[in-house]
Amino acid sequence: MRVEADGTVDVTVTVNGRAVTLAVAPRTTLSDVLRDRLGLTGTHVGCEHGVCGMCTVLLDGEAVRACLLFAVQCDGASLTTVEGLGSADDQHPLQQAFSHHHALQCGFCTPGMLMSSYDLLAGGTYSRDTLAEDMSGVLCRCTGYRGILAAVADVAETHADGVPPPRAAVPPALVGRTSGASPASSLALNARKSASSDTSPAEAPGEIPPEITAPTGPPTATVEVRSELASGVDDVWAVLADFDRLAACLPGAEMTADLGDDRYRGRATVGLGPVSLRFDGLAHVVEHDPVARRMRVLAQGTDRGGSSTQAVIRLAADPAEGGGTVLWADADVHLSGRVAQFGRALAGDVSRRLFEQFAEAVDEAARTGEAPTTRTSPLRLALGALLARIRRLVQRRR
Ligand code: FES
Ligand code: FES
Repeated sequence: MRVEADGTVDVTVTVNGRAVTLAVAPRTTLSDVLRDRLGLTGTHVGCEHGVCGMCTVLLDGEAVRACLLFAVQCDGASLTTVEGLGSADDQHPLQQAFSHHHALQCGFCTPGMLMSSYDLLAGGTYSRDTLAEDMSGVLCRCTGYRGILAAVADVAETHADGVPPPRAAVPPALVGRTSGASPASSLALNARKSASSDTSPAEAPGEIPPEITAPTGPPTATVEVRSELASGVDDVWAVLADFDRLAACLPGAEMTADLGDDRYRGRATVGLGPVSLRFDGLAHVVEHDPVARRMRVLAQGTDRGGSSTQAVIRLAADPAEGGGTVLWADADVHLSGRVAQFGRALAGDVSRRLFEQFAEAVDEAARTGEAPTTRTSPLRLALGALLARIRRLVQRRR
């Protein structure tokens, strides 16, 4: 196969029991795909040239160095990462034994140690005499080898008939994680485009809009914001019912194409402190009830740096006592890639502030009958969220 220098290849793999198709550049390593595209950051990266063993995962049941494999070499393979070995609620015996024997200090080597020891025990060649040598493919810079070897020996001896298989615990489903053609193909579409040119997805002619499916699994953050607006409920609903005006009320967002059938393309810029992310994405209004004044929107976006976001957003407008409107905005937000590392609390803070500023903009648009004139800077939004969180932490410490 020949691929243009800036081209991508579609790769389908089954990761922890779930099939996923991604468009990847041929030079992308498996470790980068697992961490940056799928948000599976349990696979650690130390040396990136096959020495330290931090990145050990199972490929079709065999331990491999994810930093030494290109993702394109794994097409059709089944992968198990440490997230698939077990979860916090359902730990694999090896994880329990590592905890029991305190087989970790900083924990950086622990995923590699767990996957490597699973491979050893599943291979049926365990021997107490050669255990240290057999486990020498993963380095522990904290030198906590005694606890690690004790944990592995403990599991080998208590499961002499064979170590239990990985739990294949599936982490929260995020953009690009499901096997259905829709999210994966949309991710592939965006990745191909971003690799090949600066053309926005909205500007490509003749493309069939991909479907968006509701994400499954627990969200990264759930937010619910109740705002009291001075404008009357009919005026507020008129803004929500007009996607052009609605999009203009979202801080940092811009609609780039109306794809028909209540589907829209757009882009949004989100800043988290020093990190600025620009998402190209899709939104689909899946429910729109003008009588009850309720709507539900599915949205997904990908950033060129490998961050993905997917959200189920519900908006509702109710008449308030005294003539104004109560605007309800709640969302289940699913994040993966770099952005997911900011954590649940910060994701919730940013989403909440975004909705608060959205409500202010809707109020203005409802009052004037136009798109809002005061647009919130996404960077200020994020810095505000960060400062509020830092202030809360300081107050808690006091
Ligand atoms: S990061 Fe892969 S072996 Fe070190
Ligand atoms: S526990 Fe720190 S590297 Fe192993």
